[in-house]
Amino acid sequence: MIYDRINHGDGFYEMINNIKEGLNKMLRLRALRIVRVSLFCLALLLVMNPVFGSVKAEDNPAQVENAVKSTSDSVGQSMTSERTVNGTMDCSYRTHVQNVGWQSFVSNGIISGTEGQGLRLEGIEVKLENVSGDVGIEYTTHVENIGWQNYVKNGVMSGTSGQSLRLEAIKIRLTGADAENYDVYYQVHAQNFGWLDWAKNDASAGTEGFGFRLEGIKIMVVPKGEPAPGPTERPFVTTNIQVVYQTHIQNIGWEGWKQNGELSGTTGQNLRLEAIEIKNHQIESNVGLKYQTHVQNLGWQGWKEDGEMSGTSNQGLRLEGIQIQLTGANAELFDVYYAAYVEGFGWLPWVINGESAGTEGLALRLEGIRILVQLKGSAAPQNTENELGSMAQLVNKNHSIPADYVPGDLVWVNLPSTRDTQLRADAAQQLIQLFNGASAQGLTLYCCSGYRSYATQSALYQWNVDMYGVAGAELVSARPGMSEHQLGLAMDVTSASVDFDLVENFGYTAEGQFIRDHAHEYGFIVRYPQGKTRITGYAYEPWHLRYLGVPVATTIYNSGKTMEEFYGIY
Ligand code: DAL
Ligand code: ZN
Repeated sequence: MIYDRINHGDGFYEMINNIKEGLNKMLRLRALRIVRVSLFCLALLLVMNPVFGSVKAEDNPAQVENAVKSTSDSVGQSMTSERTVNGTMDCSYRTHVQNVGWQSFVSNGIISGTEGQGLRLEGIEVKLENVSGDVGIEYTTHVENIGWQNYVKNGVMSGTSGQSLRLEAIKIRLTGADAENYDVYYQVHAQNFGWLDWAKNDASAGTEGFGFRLEGIKIMVVPKGEPAPGPTERPFVTTNIQVVYQTHIQNIGWEGWKQNGELSGTTGQNLRLEAIEIKNHQIESNVGLKYQTHVQNLGWQGWKEDGEMSGTSNQGLRLEGIQIQLTGANAELFDVYYAAYVEGFGWLPWVINGESAGTEGLALRLEGIRILVQLKGSAAPQNTENELGSMAQLVNKNHSIPADYVPGDLVWVNLPSTRDTQLRADAAQQLIQLFNGASAQGLTLYCCSGYRSYATQSALYQWNVDMYGVAGAELVSARPGMSEHQLGLAMDVTSASVDFDLVENFGYTAEGQFIRDHAHEYGFIVRYPQGKTRITGYAYEPWHLRYLGVPVATTIYNSGKTMEEFYGIY
């Protein structure tokens, strides 16, 4: 082993190589910083537009025919229809309409209320006529600011009067010993959505959580089992969903249901996930889930849905990746986000709507997962997991480390060096392999600077400020508490061909190109690549290696992204 320590300079080894970009570039950097603006309303309307127009009752031939049959004599004007539905009984109803007051009773599928006039329903009365046998009708409405009311029955008003509160949704059901011989169907016209599909027998119709008014309604009672009067896929739209998930963990088994981005599984315990189940408790929301997992030795497993198990049980096989999508008539209104905690990586960034989370082809276990379903246009979840001391910890101008942080496992690096320097144990071990790999190509690398204490970094930054001014220093030197060197996971390397200096030209030497092309194979990345100053905040540093472990470094190298871009943490 060579101990070829070359004393180069007086101890300030991070030399400026290129401050061409200088102050102007720093100013541009600030101007370009991305500001996330949540244009909730605009996004929601854009998303809903195709949904609104998609199922108009008027466009449905079966429904038109039905409407004609049931409205041939009255067209909504007579007090009570004389006719019966299929020779059984009539369902009559009237609504209290904003600015208009109580409308006349109509029956059997005729519209009560209005459509396209922007007038809210405020109250409703529903009753059965020509009843034979023991059948009654009861109903509840969802009222603005109040929510679901108690059920009322047989012609009693549901809703409010004189309070200017809109109805937003309704549920109607039949009661009595003979109710089982009939189905009650109802369909509403909701603000912005238009005619929703038909609901039946106490299912919700309308909207919830959006603050949209009901404008019109059609109701009919038919003998049990008769075909629905029209489409039934989407009678109700709600912001209220409850997606839950549970994982099967090595040595532990099924863990119990989690929700709203909670951790399912473990972190830092080296336990593999083996299977997962995901479902939405709010069936009426018409939002379901399908998901598939990438299983050790087996690959992608095909889609499962709504609570089915994906993965394996009792086979000792790890999950490695997962994809999740929303299904159902209201899927377009929501996004599903999920983040995976992966062996060697820790938390990977959140992904969305069917993208892959985890890894493929790296034989790494999933250990934990978070899942979150949100209305489109809501702010995306932030990638906040950045644990102090973890191998994957991101440190930059926005994410600092405490002044007193000193890694617990520093070792002296036993390699050709321009001075004695330390690294964390794993990084030092892998750096030896990297130098050996270079040697095998006839190339000799030299260490220059590994671990630096907060105090050392302070002195170095100040030296740069004195030398180049604040703007110049900011491009080449981290402030104390913001350097990867304090993590003990960064090493500056150089070569004789650049006179053991830290200069951009190192990137064009054979040694620098070996680093560029092969460092990831040993678990290192070139942390401040060329052309990425806008993201990293630093000028190109072909000599600054960051240790992340082989899987992470390889994945980041293959992605062509900086660590900030890859983690989604800036
Ligand atoms: N030269 C790098 C940015 C540091 O000072 O950590
Ligand atoms: Zn460095």
